Amino acid sequence: MSTDKLIIFDTTLRDGEQSPGASMTRDEKLRIARQLERLKVDVIEAGFAASSNGDFECVQAIARAIKDSTVCSLARTNDRDITRAAEALKDAGRARIHLFIATSPLHMEKKLRMTPEQVLEQSRLSTRFARNLAEDIEFSAEDGYRSDPDFLCRVVEAAIEEGATTINIPDTVGYAIPELYGSFIKNLRERVPNSDKAVWSVHCHNDLGMAVANSLAGVKIGGARQVECTINGLGERAGNCSLEEVVMAVKTRRDYFGLEVGIDAKHLLAASRMVSQTTGFVVQPNKAVVGANAFAHASGIHQDGVLKARDTYEIMRAEDVGWSTNKIVLGKLSGRNAFKQRLQELGVELESEGEINAAFARFKELADRKSEIFDEDILALVSDESMHG
Ligand code: KIV
Ligand code: ZN
Repeated sequence: MSTDKLIIFDTTLRDGEQSPGASMTRDEKLRIARQLERLKVDVIEAGFAASSNGDFECVQAIARAIKDSTVCSLARTNDRDITRAAEALKDAGRARIHLFIATSPLHMEKKLRMTPEQVLEQSRLSTRFARNLAEDIEFSAEDGYRSDPDFLCRVVEAAIEEGATTINIPDTVGYAIPELYGSFIKNLRERVPNSDKAVWSVHCHNDLGMAVANSLAGVKIGGARQVECTINGLGERAGNCSLEEVVMAVKTRRDYFGLEVGIDAKHLLAASRMVSQTTGFVVQPNKAVVGANAFAHASGIHQDGVLKARDTYEIMRAEDVGWSTNKIVLGKLSGRNAFKQRLQELGVELESEGEINAAFARFKELADRKSEIFDEDILALVSDESMHG
């Protein structure tokens, strides 16, 4: 099924929580789930119901509280896991069971200790079992990107035959390269019979820092129409594909992707802060979209540019993703124009251009000694005492 809509599947509460030190309480998860619903995330993966009673209760509570997004639980390909997932999701408005089994030679042999034929059979039977309990079934081939494409085609074909509605091909260990991953997905979609009966999904880890690029290539080259991601890219090891980055890439470059994303981006910053505060994982200042410096301008040339026209150095609006405005950081690189603008914002009216020049000279002297100049510093610089001796 190839639609013009890109489905955003958030797994902050499941794969994100697998990040060491990021575990969340039931109430914290509920709060984040509500924020995800506010964001208009299409699918919220609430947890892994069979993994513990605590996780079961989280999935159940989220399934009961969330009305506008589909709520999903992960499950291994066995009857107990699938039954637990279905029970936890019983009260959801829209429920999805997400099955996964590893399909790479390494994982099958060393981790599962199963033959490929056993994995194929288990994929088929578990999808059939799950399909009797829910209509919306996602099937994930764990370590899919490192799997043999011929074998993967057979597994995916079986899952679709048994009624899987979404097929997810994870790059579980973040090994992919954008063009190669995109072509890998495209090739599978072209080879699997009835591939258009399912939505194809990408799920990329960030071990080489390419989770977002790989996901976007899976969409653009591969034709995937679901991206799995987390707020702030939270997740095991180097994390998952970052929701805010992938969403803003598709929105900002609509000319290139030509896809609709339902996300209400003005809630992105609040979501990022909530996840950061809940987990204690600090967002790096230069993080795209939600980092403290994402819309900050420090150099004089840039400041002059954005004061004249914001799109000189801003490809998206800070306000569109939840910031109150962009930020002109005054420091040693700042120009007279930015300084003058800040004086106006602070309600300071100097009598002549000469006074402005004098204040600006003192500002530059101070900026050589101090990396960031705050409003209080400027007010001190232009106080009567400073100006007139
Ligand atoms: O990374 C992965 O393969 C996963 C699956 C369980 C979807 O998280
Ligand atoms: Zn994952």
